[in-house]
Amino acid sequence: MNAIRTVAVVGAGLVGQGWAIVFARAGMDVAIFDAREKAEAVIGAQIEKAVGDLAAGGLCDDPASLLSRIRFATSLQDAVASCDYVQESAFERIDVKVDVSRAIDAALPAHAFVGSSTSGFPGSDFYADCGNRARMMVVHPVNPPHLVPLVEIVPTPWTAPEVAARARELMEQVGQSAVSLSREVPGFILNRLQGALLDEAFALFAEGYATADDIDRTVRDGLGLRWAFMGPFETIDLNAPKGLADYAERLGPMYSGFAEQRKANRDWVPEAVVRADAERRRVLPAGALEDRRSWRDDMLMRMVRAKRG
Ligand SMILES: NC(=O)c1ccc[n+]([C@@H]2O[C@H](COP(=O)([O-])OP(=O)(O)OC[C@H]3O[C@@H](n4cnc5c(N)ncnc54)[C@H](O)[C@@H]3O)[C@@H](O)[C@H]2O)c1
Repeated sequence: MNAIRTVAVVGAGLVGQGWAIVFARAGMDVAIFDAREKAEAVIGAQIEKAVGDLAAGGLCDDPASLLSRIRFATSLQDAVASCDYVQESAFERIDVKVDVSRAIDAALPAHAFVGSSTSGFPGSDFYADCGNRARMMVVHPVNPPHLVPLVEIVPTPWTAPEVAARARELMEQVGQSAVSLSREVPGFILNRLQGALLDEAFALFAEGYATADDIDRTVRDGLGLRWAFMGPFETIDLNAPKGLADYAERLGPMYSGFAEQRKANRDWVPEAVVRADAERRRVLPAGALEDRRSWRDDMLMRMVRAKRG
């Protein structure tokens, strides 16, 4: 099996730029192709800033050599034809995913394989016509991928199991933390978990039990403190004297009661969305969102450093 030396990043908005940093940071050569005008000038500057922030945050020792491994290709074919792996991160529109997958398929070297960053579409919705579909799957990151390591590897019914296994190895090689799904499910794992929490948060808010900020506080000063280093199964395993099964016996009926109560209505009530948004905009005016995203990224860097011990 060939080692992965060169990666094509097709589509370099928020997520593609982070991917370029992930692969270049691991010592790989990266060829970016993005369809927008003046891609090199605009995207190049954004990547330089992100790498500068990483270096300032103590998470990149040699920003100049990382940046020297990233080049801008003149066409999709130019990026893909000499690569070992393609990470596609174009717009989240099914027509775009279909077109870009076909173009990648046509240029793909015989040994190379492809992961799409799509957040919402199963790969089988856009890879069906590709001759190389056995070497194509979803490799879904969390934004920004150079700071949040999780990726979900989701095979289509056509993906060869050994290629999905290679994608996992690649992700581990570049320092990401990979989750392998056995088959397609809408939302994969991460967004289904996030969706369950958001459903309940909106329902509690809509029914007036607490402010949006107090519901957020419950996560940031409660549940979330543990979640940075353990998941829901490990959490309950430690929260009953004899472990997970003991917890399920003690508290399972209580959780079933909640689920029963919520079955009828999982929609986000529009009036509650307007009120929650108004509360957020009082705390954080729309003009300050960008600064707050920088703060979030700075906090993420501190978390990454803390987790490294
Ligand atoms: N933003 C997130 O939080 C997030 C998280 C995980 C996954 N994703 C997924 O990653 C993908 C990209 O999302 P994003 O937030 O970076 O979007 P974005 O709009 O910031 O970037 C998309 C980029 O793709 C380029 N593009 C569009 N069509 C193209 C084509 N045919 N060829 C080459 N380049 C093309 C655009 O010029 C743009 O720069 C989407 O599938 C999205 O669902 C996003």
